Formats: sequence, C-alpha cells, structure tokens
Amino acid sequence: MIDRRTLLGSIAALPLAASAACAQERSAPPPRTAPGTLIERPIPGANDQVPVIGVGTARRYADPAEADFPELRDTLASFAKLGGRMIDTAPSYGQAEEVVGRLVEELGIRDRLFLATKVGADSKAEGSAQIEQSFRKLRTNRIDLIAVHNLRDTANQLATLRGLKEAGRIRSLGVTTSSDSQYEALEAVMRREALDVIQVDYALDNRNAAERILPLAQERGMAPMINLPFGRGRLFEATQGRPLPDWAAEIDAATWAQVFLKYVVSHPSRPIAIPGMARARYATDNMGAARGRLPDSALRRRMEAFIDAL
Ligand SMILES: NC(=O)c1ccc[n+]([C@@H]2O[C@H](COP(=O)([O-])OP(=O)(O)OC[C@H]3O[C@@H](n4cnc5c(N)ncnc54)[C@H](OP(=O)(O)O)[C@@H]3O)[C@@H](O)[C@H]2O)c1
Repeated sequence: MIDRRTLLGSIAALPLAASAACAQERSAPPPRTAPGTLIERPIPGANDQVPVIGVGTARRYADPAEADFPELRDTLASFAKLGGRMIDTAPSYGQAEEVVGRLVEELGIRDRLFLATKVGADSKAEGSAQIEQSFRKLRTNRIDLIAVHNLRDTANQLATLRGLKEAGRIRSLGVTTSSDSQYEALEAVMRREALDVIQVDYALDNRNAAERILPLAQERGMAPMINLPFGRGRLFEATQGRPLPDWAAEIDAATWAQVFLKYVVSHPSRPIAIPGMARARYATDNMGAARGRLPDSALRRRMEAFIDAL
C-alpha cells in the first residue's frame, strides 16, 4: 500500500523525473531504478511503454510437440506475472503465431500484452493476406506492432501497415533485420520513412549495430528492439563455467543472462531486448534484467573488454 504523502510526493516529482529521463536519453549513464521497479521503454506510435525484456519466439515456438506446451504455457504465464508485456513472433517462425495465440488465449492475458509480429511477403496482396492470417493465428483483433521482416518489399508492406495503423488495427509499425549486410539498406529506410520501431541484432559480442543503427534510431525517435541478444546462446558458451565478475553486483546482475541483457538494454538508444525464451526459469531469470541498476558507459566498456578478452 502507498500512503497519501508518498503518492503526492511521487506526483510532485514527475516533471523532474521526466526532464531527467530526457537528459538521460542524450547521455550515459542510464537511470538507477528502485529495486522491484520494472525498467520500461516507450513505444512511439502505440503511446505505450513496455518493460525492457520481451519474449522471442523464433525457434522453440516453431514446432512444439503437445508435450512441450505445459512448459511454454508456464513460460508465458511467468513472464506475464512478472510484468512482462512484449512477445515477438513472425509468420515465418513455423507454428509460432498459432502457438502464441493459443497460449495467450488459454492464459487469458491478451490485454496485458504487447503483441509484435512481422510481415514477410513479395507483393502488397501477398502481404495483406499474410497479415490477415496473423490476426487469425494470434486470435486477436488488434496487433500492437507489425514490422517488415528483413526489409522484404519494404515500400509496399509499409504502405499496407500505414493503412492498418490509420484504421486502428495495429498500433505501431517498423522494420527488422538481423544481418550486417542489410545495415546500409536499413539506415536508408530509417532516414526515409517515419517508423515507430526498428529491430536489429546486437549483443555484448556483436556490437556493430551500435556504430550507426542505434544512434540513428535515437536521433529519429524510433524504439530499437534487439534480436539475438545472446547471439543464439553463443555468449553462454563463451562464459560457460566462469564465475560472474565482481562488477556484476554493481548492476544487480545475479546471472550471466542478466549481465548480457543489461548490457544490451543500457545502450543510450534505450532498446528493448527480445531473447528467445521457452522455459519458465528463463522467464524469471531474464525478467530479472528489467530490474535494478544498469551499467553506465564506463562499466559498459569494461564489459566489452571482458568479453573481447575471452
Ligand atoms: N530478422 C529478424 O527479425 C529476427 C532474426 C532473428 C531473431 N529475431 C527475434 O529475436 C528473438 C531472439 O533471437 P533467438 O531466440 O534466435 O536468439 P537469442 O535470444 O540470442 O538466444 C536464445 C537462446 O538463449 C537461451 N536462453 C534464453 N534465456 C536463457 C537464460 N536465462 N539462461 C540460459 N540460456 C538462455 C535459449 O536456449 P535454449 O532454448 O536452447 O535452452 C534460447 O534458445 C527471436 O526469438 C525472434 O523473436 C528476429
């Protein structure tokens, strides 16, 4: 329970907090967060904000056996119970959209979530048909974000997405890539188009997106979503059997997963990470990265030096 004086004090502090947040966006270090408070990021266009950790569904949700469903259900239940909101999926991830739609309906958590999917098609007609299928598979009449998958047929698909946004069927739109070979094209789209969100690969051992893409997102007011924040497990292999360095305690990181995620979400462009998560214990672990302190720029350099030296 919060008493009246605390509540009034918090309200009085709001404008200060807001201007501090703006200043923060321009320069490191990121904010210190009270223990227990979820660190959130705004999603332009949707007029919403979501915790910095979401769920990626690329592989483990693609083709689950019936026996895998209880664990997937527990994962999403734990994620939502801990305050998690964003789930990222795509039509090209096998059965992932159907699996997410089914579990979200069974758990009755649609209203709490921010559902993000993608469109990957070669013409306007094909894209529109695919999007209608996404609505059906996700069992929802509103999708919170649709992004053009890997910049495929970008101009046509963005035109469709703008129409859907105007009609109120989606709340935000964007584009994705996970490949350096598309960075130049991504940059051009980001300069040319008004986007709410961009999605790109970035991890402690894969930092190329920080050179131009993430600063450009910050400059253009686009929310960055980070795919492959663990490099598909590569970072766990690199650190296997190693104890956490002393500095992990300075950012309230109790596991390697939290170290890797806190690095990603502390970039000054204020990204959201969407690690692949298909176990309830991963949901608990990864959501731990949405709480406590984040590294400042000096500690981020130390983290990079640490991983580069392995
Ligand atoms: N172009 C695009 O738009 C694009 C491309 C790629 C990915 N994505 C999106 O980004 C998401 C993330 O990518 P990803 O899933 O391929 O790779 P990732 O997030 O870098 O790594 C996922 C793997 O890390 C392991 N993991 C997760 N949490 C863990 C924890 N707390 N402790 C230990 N291990 C943990 C899991 O391994 P196990 O499950 O094997 O145990 C999981 O498969 C995708 O699911 C997808 O939604 C988008």
